[in-house]
Amino acid sequence: MATTPLSEISPQRIQCVLGAVIVFLLLATPTWAQNDEGHIKYRQHLMGSIGASTGAVGDILKYRLSLLPNVETHAKNIAADAKLIASAFREKVVSGATDAKANIWTEWEDFEKAIQAMETAAENLEEAGDDADLGKIAAGMKSLGRSCSGCHKQFRKPKEESYKRK
Ligand code: HEC
Repeated sequence: MATTPLSEISPQRIQCVLGAVIVFLLLATPTWAQNDEGHIKYRQHLMGSIGASTGAVGDILKYRLSLLPNVETHAKNIAADAKLIASAFREKVVSGATDAKANIWTEWEDFEKAIQAMETAAENLEEAGDDADLGKIAAGMKSLGRSCSGCHKQFRKPKEESYKRK
């Protein structure tokens, strides 16, 4: 099949394609704005990623795996994910398959403080991982765990009320 070299595509044609893309974006925007399920899924996947990294460090400690040098990267990933939490929850979506409590959006400053606490704990764990110091890593994991449960207690529905039970 013959293809047209890029240089032979007329400016009019490019304009036409661009126009179509813009029209598509304009039409699609209202759907994006109302995409509640998407917001819920996204923030849950972000939390799942944080949970997986934390779980991986937990495995290294629990099973005494000779993978201490990996801790630093897992901790770095958690700290990076921390920076995405605020944007993931910016849209207020309280109904649907979610465990997020409505007070996130009325106590937003506290929510941000809880994010900051997790980020700091992850950075401390990163440092402990860099030193490959088992004692410091274990202590770092404890405070990281406290930062998770601190936020979950205040802003996440208890297990008995979880959407996962329904
Ligand atoms: C700033 C608050 C906050 C912090 C800090 C936080 N979480 Fe969460 N987490 C939430 C909220 C809110 C939900 C419920 C989200 C939903 O269902 O829409 C959640 C849900 C989860 C879930 C379930 C996701 C799903 O698929 O339903 C996991 C796993 C999780 N968090 C792990 C962690 C771990 C591990 C940490 C600490 C390293 C942590 N979280 C720190 C607020 C937080």
